[in-house]
Amino acid sequence: MNNFILMTGATGFLGGANAVEAIRRGVGARLLFLVRAASPELGLTRIAENLKLLGASAQEVAQITVSQILCGDLGEMENVTQDSRLDQVSTVIHSAALATFSHHPSLEKINVDGTVALGQLMHGRPALKRFMYIGTAMACGDDAAIDGVVSELRDLPLADEDHLVPYTRSKAMGEKKLRETFPDLPLVVVRPSIIVGHTVLGCGPSQSIFWVFMVWQMLGILTTELDEKIDVVPVDWCARGIIELALKDALSHDVFHLSAGVQASKSFHDIDIALAEGRGVAPVGTAYEHISVEEMDRLLPRIRQRIPDCNARLLLRALKLYGGFAGLNYVFRNDNLLAEGIPLPPPVTDYLPLCVRSASHITIGDQMKWDFK
Ligand SMILES: NC(=O)c1ccc[n+]([C@@H]2O[C@H](COP(=O)([O-])OP(=O)(O)OC[C@H]3O[C@@H](n4cnc5c(N)ncnc54)[C@H](OP(=O)(O)O)[C@@H]3O)[C@@H](O)[C@H]2O)c1
Repeated sequence: MNNFILMTGATGFLGGANAVEAIRRGVGARLLFLVRAASPELGLTRIAENLKLLGASAQEVAQITVSQILCGDLGEMENVTQDSRLDQVSTVIHSAALATFSHHPSLEKINVDGTVALGQLMHGRPALKRFMYIGTAMACGDDAAIDGVVSELRDLPLADEDHLVPYTRSKAMGEKKLRETFPDLPLVVVRPSIIVGHTVLGCGPSQSIFWVFMVWQMLGILTTELDEKIDVVPVDWCARGIIELALKDALSHDVFHLSAGVQASKSFHDIDIALAEGRGVAPVGTAYEHISVEEMDRLLPRIRQRIPDCNARLLLRALKLYGGFAGLNYVFRNDNLLAEGIPLPPPVTDYLPLCVRSASHITIGDQMKWDFK
């Protein structure tokens, strides 16, 4: 198969890591990028800057040329429909999304309607063999676990009340609409768990979600027990898994969690120690205060005192949301992934100290911007 691999979202965190991994796997020349840009030249510049941020060398970046850029927005696909390159696409890796926990008015438009528009664009094309939708494991809703463990189920809950934030619902809906609207689309759903940092670059490319761990430690609070586990994976490992799945001739399943699972998830206790090592402070340990989301308003003075370089009210709101997710204590099964021969991720504690060092010059207020667009 030497046809194109169409990538969306390659100016973002995971999509950029996917592109770097694809180049390293020797398929850079097969990539075609759907990018928001006024011209292919500007699109290439955006992609190249992001690949550099995600660790690509000048030589690796130079493998991508302007002929591989398709200017387009998921919200307005009319301009690209006639592009003949699309008839040579064998694999789609659809990472583009509005990945935000805020109540953004365009969530539905981009994550649901935009996904269906991409399905419409690619559905029935002569070379298409696989359409990979990058979902999120958290789209399973707030009542999905048996003994804390979430299976790789095809159907996800869609009611507003099943989801802590509209983002996860929109991701579940994107999947569902693709399946319903295009029953013969060769759809493979890949749902990463919580992506934090990069094993080599730390949080240089993105501080998304990392700051939440920092803030929990700086405030000495947790919404869960110290020995509970949290399922976190690094972006470069996710990219390796996604490209491996994309390049396989056949897959045994059509739904995958990209997760640490029971085997490689770490406890908050272990995370506390790794963060403390990176910060050069003592772990909080048993001094962590267990707090419910409902009690959090009283943290405002503590936030203002200990983390003065952020918007305290925005941080409080964020802590309530992330505290809700942490309180679910989910670990995501990854049997389907392991069955494809993809190894487990390194535990987050291996590279958390590096994440701390790589983000030490960035204020918490600025780090939060990655998740509140
Ligand atoms: N980060 C995580 O913890 C995590 C966990 C599980 C799943 N995921 C999933 O992984 C995927 C990537 O997430 P991420 O963290 O890498 O997000 P990100 O850094 O915010 O990147 C989002 C990407 O989507 C593109 N995009 C947004 N709206 C678009 C539109 N209307 N048309 C075309 N492209 C558009 C962005 O392009 P611009 O640069 O033009 O804005 C960017 O390239 C998402 O599907 C997300 O749901 C992420």
